[in-house]
Amino acid sequence: MEQALSWLMRDLSGPGFWRECEDQVERARALFAALVGADVEQVAVLPNASVAAYQAVSRRRWRRRRDVVATPAEFPGVAHTWLNQPTVRVRWTGPPGAAVRTGDFLPLITARTGLVSVPAVTYRDSTGLDVACIARAAHDVGARVFVDAYQAAGVMPLHVDTLGCDYLVAGAGKYLMGLPGVAFLYIRHPDGPAPALTGWLGRADPRALRATVLDWPSQARRYETGTPCVASVYAAVAGLRLVNGLDLDEVRRHTQRLVSEAARRLGAFGEVVRVAAAPDAQGAHLALVDPQAEILAGWLAERGVITAPRAGVLRLAVHAYSTDEDIDVVCDAVATYRRHHHRRSGGIR
Ligand SMILES: Cc1ncc(COP(=O)(O)O)c(C=O)c1O
Repeated sequence: MEQALSWLMRDLSGPGFWRECEDQVERARALFAALVGADVEQVAVLPNASVAAYQAVSRRRWRRRRDVVATPAEFPGVAHTWLNQPTVRVRWTGPPGAAVRTGDFLPLITARTGLVSVPAVTYRDSTGLDVACIARAAHDVGARVFVDAYQAAGVMPLHVDTLGCDYLVAGAGKYLMGLPGVAFLYIRHPDGPAPALTGWLGRADPRALRATVLDWPSQARRYETGTPCVASVYAAVAGLRLVNGLDLDEVRRHTQRLVSEAARRLGAFGEVVRVAAAPDAQGAHLALVDPQAEILAGWLAERGVITAPRAGVLRLAVHAYSTDEDIDVVCDAVATYRRHHHRRSGGIR
């Protein structure tokens, strides 16, 4: 990443900077397409997942299919996009905070369903869902499937045909080892209705620069708007190159082993951790329950352990490069923190 950003600084002061930016966007698009088994024409480069969700449905005619089936475990930015659709009724899979299972989606999918929204792995508790199973049920009734793969891309194999999804989004800033500021939207049939948001990069030929003409390319580029966050695009290319060189089946086994080891050790000394019901459904982070997760995160950060506090849990993320020693360090640090602060009782659930 540092090298990618130094290339950005070099290119910035050279001639043809904009041409290089365009090339970087195309590289990022191609690398993401390769990661998820898509064609480059099916990938739009967008600023974030929320915009991607909005673009995916902005001009959808819901008619009699006004139900969106979603889980309260969905990342809020995506769920809010469905709630903000004027004629949509969101059918939630269960109450907020409840564990989410693949089977919770199925009874809600009916002839009134227009879209089923599935996180490949939930952002808080790191639970993987059987997207392919949900997608089959959705397609059986003629509904579309949107997958938020933000917490999955880079740490498990993802193939849009195996998943059977119509849309898939992932951001570059997490396990794709880039920066925030870029997300990728896969669209199975990109030549559908034109999206509501547009800009000069959404034109058939952006370089034509004709202010009076609103034409649309047939590729997913039509979902793009204006100038992207160029630094994030450079970083995304570097991160995707690394990730595309990994064996993601092996990465998944590795992260699941480390998460399970951390869960066992933390649970053994009284921490409450949330793990997926089936080991194979475990995502690449461990959710440690703590109502004051922000304080714990700050304490750990001062000791060089970087975590993410989110809505009552502390997320301990594991990647291909994480080691058993990293798990030792974090478990020892949490134990020390509890000794210096209050103890808690709990276990694994
Ligand atoms: C599952 C999931 N989706 C989406 C996002 C980010 O959404 P946005 O790019 O709209 O900020 C995150 C960020 O943490 C996430 O975990």
